Amino acid sequence: MTIDELKKNAIENNIPIMQDGAIEYIKRRIKLFNLNKILEIGTAVGYSAAQMASVSDKVHVTTIEKDAERFMMATKNINALEMHEQIDLIFNDALTLDIVEKYNLIVIDAAKGKNTHFFEKYKKNLLNNGFIIIDNINFHGLVGKSETISSKNLRQLVEKIEDFLEYLKTQEDEFYIEIVDEGDGLAVCQRK
Ligand SMILES: C[S@@+](CC[C@H](N)C(=O)[O-])C[C@H]1O[C@@H](n2cnc3c(N)ncnc32)[C@H](O)[C@@H]1O
Repeated sequence: MTIDELKKNAIENNIPIMQDGAIEYIKRRIKLFNLNKILEIGTAVGYSAAQMASVSDKVHVTTIEKDAERFMMATKNINALEMHEQIDLIFNDALTLDIVEKYNLIVIDAAKGKNTHFFEKYKKNLLNNGFIIIDNINFHGLVGKSETISSKNLRQLVEKIEDFLEYLKTQEDEFYIEIVDEGDGLAVCQRK
């Protein structure tokens, strides 16, 4: 199996995966800053983890997924790609799990309404000068326009992403924060 085949399978099965612009941006950052210890929250079927690990065989990714079926598919995919030595898959709820290891890149790509929880919980796991990158910060162009959304559930989700962006402003003493218009929008936070 190849990563392109994994991507095709994921799309065919309606598994949400990171958009091309976002994953390419993250891979460039991994190369540029030599980010070789990565924690990802939200594995789905292992696509973005495999992409990040493909940058170099020195890159190690630990990735967390709470959905049993997706976790099993991810395990199968990572084995088929022969990337099991580079990628550790954890089947757990990242909101309650406790991790002591430290990483130089943390990628948050899980429940979009819980970004603040994940950020607060995992920033202790970030090494000095490390990055936390959060995906879907534009949420299909709806962020900043929540008052125009008629569906209550969707509006509440978009409001949570807007709240998260407000929360990030409170982190500016500790992090350099940049909103990058790649893929569905990334918040890129570098610890000062
Ligand atoms: C957008 S998908 C991840 C896509 C993946 N990063 C990729 O690009 O290939 C989000 C995943 O996060 C998982 N998730 C949501 N909340 C979670 C939590 N609290 N702990 C672990 N996984 C979670 C969902 O089950 C879903 O599979």
